[in-house]
Order: sequence, then structure tokens, then C-alpha cells
Amino acid sequence: MEQIRPIVEMRGISKTFGSTRALRDVDFTLEEGEIHALLGRNGAGKSTLVSAMSGYTPADTGTIRIASTEFNADGSSYAARIRGDIAHVQQTPQMFDLLSVAENLFLENDLVRNRWGMVSYTRMIEKTEKLMRDWNMDIAPSDLAGELGAGQRQLLEIMKALSRGVPVIILDEPTAALSNAEKRVLFDQVKLLKTAGVSFVYISHHLDEIFEIADTVTILRDGQVVKSRASVEGLDTETLANLMMGEKTTRSAREDHTFGDAAPLLSARQVQLKPDSPKIDIDVRPGEIIALAGPVGSGKEDLAMVLAGQQAPARGQVSGPNGALPTIGYVPTDRHASGYVGILGVRENVALGGLEVLSGNFGFISKAKEDSLVSRLTRQTDVIASSLDQAVSQLSGGNQQKVVFARALCRDPQIIVALSPTRGVDVGAKEQLYALLRDLASKGLGVIVVSDEEDEISQLANRVVIVFEDRIVDEMVGDYRMEDLILHMEGAT
Ligand SMILES: Nc1ncnc2c1ncn2[C@@H]1O[C@H](COP(=O)(O)OP(=O)(O)OP(=O)(O)O)[C@@H](O)[C@H]1O
Ligand SMILES: [Mg+2]
Repeated sequence: MEQIRPIVEMRGISKTFGSTRALRDVDFTLEEGEIHALLGRNGAGKSTLVSAMSGYTPADTGTIRIASTEFNADGSSYAARIRGDIAHVQQTPQMFDLLSVAENLFLENDLVRNRWGMVSYTRMIEKTEKLMRDWNMDIAPSDLAGELGAGQRQLLEIMKALSRGVPVIILDEPTAALSNAEKRVLFDQVKLLKTAGVSFVYISHHLDEIFEIADTVTILRDGQVVKSRASVEGLDTETLANLMMGEKTTRSAREDHTFGDAAPLLSARQVQLKPDSPKIDIDVRPGEIIALAGPVGSGKEDLAMVLAGQQAPARGQVSGPNGALPTIGYVPTDRHASGYVGILGVRENVALGGLEVLSGNFGFISKAKEDSLVSRLTRQTDVIASSLDQAVSQLSGGNQQKVVFARALCRDPQIIVALSPTRGVDVGAKEQLYALLRDLASKGLGVIVVSDEEDEISQLANRVVIVFEDRIVDEMVGDYRMEDLILHMEGAT
């Protein structure tokens, strides 16, 4: 009997960036109709490996076969030869902000060209409308991509890849910006394509997703394979986390650093997120970790941005104890759009958050002060970079997020407002960031996080505020249980 060949075979792949050995002699195979999870901590080499596969960034050595095309991994022009066989949804968004949704989805797709090779706009609009219906999305083909939220943009990129009709699809952290509801739609579509024989490489730091969707797991650590093609059955999240980190990772528990009736650090009074929405009052007290939770579009992000002074409320007041706003450290939801400046180094990006703290009497920045502060913050947030001068665009996705976090801490804030603080961050670094937030709370800071993850909320928050239709509908304080949290969160849908 003839054996069925894997659809992708990669052999002896190595890749070095300057002094960083991102991949060392890696073998990787993908079977037909398989969903293969590629795991590893931040900077392990996952994105580098799949970029070699798709030809986005060729490697230094090794050989690759995709379907019937064989080539050397150091070739610079194989991407074009395998275009019909592979689609790659990258970790960093690749949408054109000034083009419409329909143009972003189909401009490069031959399906919308007529027989003279011209793009048919009618066909493009029709195809986009059908896709939106299939994916249950409320977006018009003519909307500009730049006007969509991070989750919708991410879904669009995935839709684009999935509708190309290729046999191999790479999804690099596809759910990082997605809500639970959006994630459901994605998983349904992926399963549908898998049944039709499409193969997936799936990268994610949400280990629970792996058990829901993947068949096989390969784990990279420091650019090397530490587990190859293991079946998902028989594995659990703890084992995966330990293999990724190379050491035991322990899940930490919530702590309570609130004390009595301390005066609030920040108060919102009669705040209306929209001109006709109900009024919101909320106080943030020292030592408190508050989670704002609720479905997509509930207003939880808007409320966080209003509290952070990043967005003006339609009506109402946000102020500190003496009328002025306290110093607030802010972690935005879309790090690629507003979190960092890619061409600048780690040092400059972190220091940008605190120019006035670092400036001396004459407005000059003290280099020594900057060095010690930036080193401390990047250590606390576990940023892995070859040096503090490495450009942030060259960091792995998770490490970019940690830089954004470090920047928010730079001004020595009294309040931290963090939207999806651990997006794209590996399990080990996540625990480190949780410990950091608890430590800040123990020092009397007020912490506000916006999160879609029940685990994250229950590990952090002493108070969970459920937001729905631009108002606060529910609240849990103190010693709540996970079951209650799930019930309360589901209550608001
Ligand atoms: N263009 C580049 N220039 C220099 N170094 C790079 C470049 N791209 C990646 N690296 C380095 O290669 C290593 C592997 O990065 P990679 O992006 O593959 O990690 P990853 O496993 O995808 O991590 P994450 O989970 O954070 O996305 C990292 O140390 C990273 O800093
Ligand atoms: Mg990556």
C-alpha cells in the first residue's frame, strides 16, 4: 500500500538573527487534514519557523517540501512558487487601513478577476457579502479596514486566508484579539475546512484552545524541538506549560490588598459612555484590582479608556481626590496600533512612557537614571531581547506586549489601566505579570484590567464589574468563586 506523504516536510531548518539563534536544526511535518499546534514560550522561534515555511522570511539552512514543490529554505523567491498551496496569517496585522474591507479581502484573489484579468468590483462586493454572512459578521464591504476594531481586523485577515482555497494554512496567534464569541465562529470554520482535508499550523498561548482544536502538538524551546508530533490526547495544560518553559510553572492565586475605607484614588461620577446611555458611578481605591468584564461591544473598553483619561465621556466627570487626575499608566488594547514605536529600541519605547520622570531640572534626560529604570522594568515584565537597543519590531510578539507593559509603569503611576494585559504573553510571563500587578496593588496602587479570560480575572481581581450595554449591570467583590464568575459573566449576554 502506498503511504500518504505529509503535505509539509521541513528538515534541518536553522535561522540566526545577529547573535540570536532563533532556530537550530528544526524538523517539522504537517499531515493532510491535521491541525498541528506549534507551542513555545515568547521568543522560542514559532513565528520564525512558520515564516520560513510560507517564504515570508526564508531561513539560513534546511530543506522544505510543500505539496509537490521542493526547495531550499534559504531561497529568497520560493514564496511565489508556493502561493497556491499555503496561506499565512501573521501575528502582526497586515491589513491596509486605507482600503475597504472588500479590497483587503479580495484584491489579490484571482476569484474576483474577469476573463481579461481585470478586478470585478461587483464580484468582489458579492463575495465579501457572502463571506460576512457565513462568518456572522456585521461589516459592510465598503467600510475602511482602518476603522474596524482589533478583533474584527484579526477576523478579516483569517477570513482572507481561509477563503483562498489553499491546502495549508498557518494561523499565528489567531485568537489574540478575539472575543469568546468570535473565537467560536473561527473554530467552526477551521473544523469545517479540516473535514475538507485542509491542514493547519496553529500557534497560540491559550493552552486550553489546543485541546479544543488541535490533533498534534510540537513544542519549541530556545529554537529547538523539545516535543515532536505528540498526540493531544494524553496531554494536559500543565504538562504543556512545563515543556514550554523547561521548568515547573505554578498557577498563582488571587490576593487581597484592599484596606477598609481608604479614600478613592479615582472617581467617576454620572459618567455616560454615550449621550443616551445610563449613568455610571465608580470608585477606584488603593490596593484594589478591578476587572471590567462583559461581551464585545458592552462598553467595558470604553469605560476603561474613560477612567484612564484616554477618552472623554459623553457626559460626567472623572477625577482624583483633589480634583486633578492621578498619574495613570495605560496599556492599550491594540499594541500594534498604539502600543509601541517599532523602529525604536526597547529602551526608548519604555522611556517614552516617562519622559518627565526621567528629565532633570533642565529637561535633559539622565542616562544613568534611564538605564537603571528601564533595566528594572524590563526585568519585572520579563522582556527577552538581545539588548535594550534592539528595535521593538524585531522582538517576538509576546515580548512586544511586555515592552508596552513596561512603558505603562515608567511614570511611577498611582493607577494602572490595562486592556487585555497579557495578550500574546506565554504562560510563564503571564504569572510574572500577575505577580507584578499584585505587588503594585500591595504598594497601594489601584489596578484596573479589562479581560475576556475568566482564569485571568479570577487569578487577579478582588472586584469584578460586569459591563453590558454601556452600563454596570453586576458586581462581585472579595471572595467569589470561579463558578460564580462564569455565571455572572454569562448572565450578561
Ligand atoms: N527580524 C528580526 N531581527 C532580529 N531578531 C529577530 C527578528 N525576528 C525574530 N527575532 C528573534 O528571534 C527569536 C524568535 O522569535 P519568534 O518571533 O520566532 O518567537 P515566537 O516563538 O514567535 O514568540 P512569541 O510567542 O512571543 O510570538 C526572538 O529572540 C526574536 O527576538
Ligand atoms: Mg510569534
